[in-house]
Amino acid sequence: MICESAEKTLKAGEQLGKTLSSGDVVALSGPLGAGKTVFARGIAESIGIQEPVTSPTYTLISEYEGRMPLYHMDLYRLGSPEEFTWLGVEEILNGSGITLIEWSERAGEELPERTITVNIEIADNGNRIITISNSREVAA
Ligand SMILES: Nc1ncnc2c1ncn2[C@@H]1O[C@H](COP(=O)(O)OP(=O)(O)O)[C@@H](O)[C@H]1O
Ligand SMILES: [Mg+2]
Repeated sequence: MICESAEKTLKAGEQLGKTLSSGDVVALSGPLGAGKTVFARGIAESIGIQEPVTSPTYTLISEYEGRMPLYHMDLYRLGSPEEFTWLGVEEILNGSGITLIEWSERAGEELPERTITVNIEIADNGNRIITISNSREVAA
């Protein structure tokens, strides 16, 4: 789908968020400034999180409490996919919350099979092209 404004990116996140349930993992990829955090905010809003959501670039992971727990990771500073497993995130990925992973490309092959992937590209005119795969019928 094409999003012409940050507001539309947020809405796209909300839309996907509504389809998510306990245990889902959403991988967000795309360049710096693509809109991954905006999209993550949309998801957070849809599950009832009121707190401001920001990229956990230095902390690697933030936890929020909505209708279910939301774990928000940012792997920008991850050195290698192996490091992802060393973080001990297995428990989180297999827990009852929803996990969002920015810079998911840094985790290589270490993400669960069931991961829903969201790729955000920046078009020449600044629009964002968002491709969601593996999701349950998200209306475009
Ligand atoms: N569809 C869009 N069109 C224009 N700007 C957008 C769009 N989506 C997001 N943005 C803007 O892009 C900037 C970076 O967003 P952010 O979510 O922080 O990126 P990332 O987390 O991918 O680095 C923000 O200023 C945001 O408002
Ligand atoms: Mg970000």
